[in-house]
Amino acid sequence: TLKTVHSVAELRAVIAQWRAEGLRVGLVPTMGALHAGHISLTEHIRNHADRVVVSIFVNPTQFGPNEDFGAYPRTLPDDQKMLDAAGVELCFAPSVEEMYPEGFATRVSVDGSLTNVLCGAARPGHFDGVAQIVTKLLLQTLPDSAIFGQKDYQQLMVIRRFSTDLNIPVEIIGAPILREEDGLAMSSRNRYLTPDERAVAPTLNRVLSEIVKAAASGAEIGPLLARGREDILRAGFSPIDYLEIRDANTLELVTKHVTSPSRVFVAAHLGKARLIDNHAIEPA
Ligand code: PAJ
Repeated sequence: TLKTVHSVAELRAVIAQWRAEGLRVGLVPTMGALHAGHISLTEHIRNHADRVVVSIFVNPTQFGPNEDFGAYPRTLPDDQKMLDAAGVELCFAPSVEEMYPEGFATRVSVDGSLTNVLCGAARPGHFDGVAQIVTKLLLQTLPDSAIFGQKDYQQLMVIRRFSTDLNIPVEIIGAPILREEDGLAMSSRNRYLTPDERAVAPTLNRVLSEIVKAAASGAEIGPLLARGREDILRAGFSPIDYLEIRDANTLELVTKHVTSPSRVFVAAHLGKARLIDNHAIEPA
């Protein structure tokens, strides 16, 4: 059954015991408001871990001043039920004071071409906040592996970058995007959608699928993206933060034709929600 701890000291005590038994530990960082996408991460990491830790922490430092930190759903009792049902051993749910005590002064910042595009451009400081909290979670837990969804593909790339740069001895694993039946990528922020908005939200996935099909068979990118933007705006999204095709490894912009592994990325606002999605493009 699930055990929940709220302090780093308790977390480390449980993990020390598992280590003494020679067990492999896997970490799944989350902000809670759990859905089946989060649970799929706990299932994936089972292939690498005998004991699974899920952290639940709505990290204030990765939200901008006009973003939804205050409104972000906090549903710990429901989250604990889902984790227990999924067979997760440990939930780490620290307070803001536990993570950022009086006197906290350290930043973790990833520079350059991975962070100044896409969500890095649309949300200044966001990835510094992610790098800061994920560094702390990795060092607090020191798991063998930690898993992150491709739903937040740029985040996964940033986490791979700083964990390599800082020699953090944890294997970083990427996991596929889990979707609703109608294709909408699962997200805690889908709770913000009204029924009418929820009905048009799958437009993002549909537009991305169409772009993938055409771009993979060599179509010129400019007109494809222009048509995609029109479809997204017509569905009621506004504004679109970005709709772009980028190299899957470097995140460099692809402008003419896709000739190497790439991804198409979108972020757009629908009512109170800012939704993101991305698909792989493998050139034929
Ligand atoms: P959160 O948005 O709660 O997501 C936690 C993890 O679940 C991330 O790795 C995310 O990519 C993954 N995830 C979310 N929706 C998914 C889906 N539909 N399919 C597969 N994986 C999905 O991402 C964060 O929290 C935070 O930035 C965090 C890394 C915890 C740092 O605060």
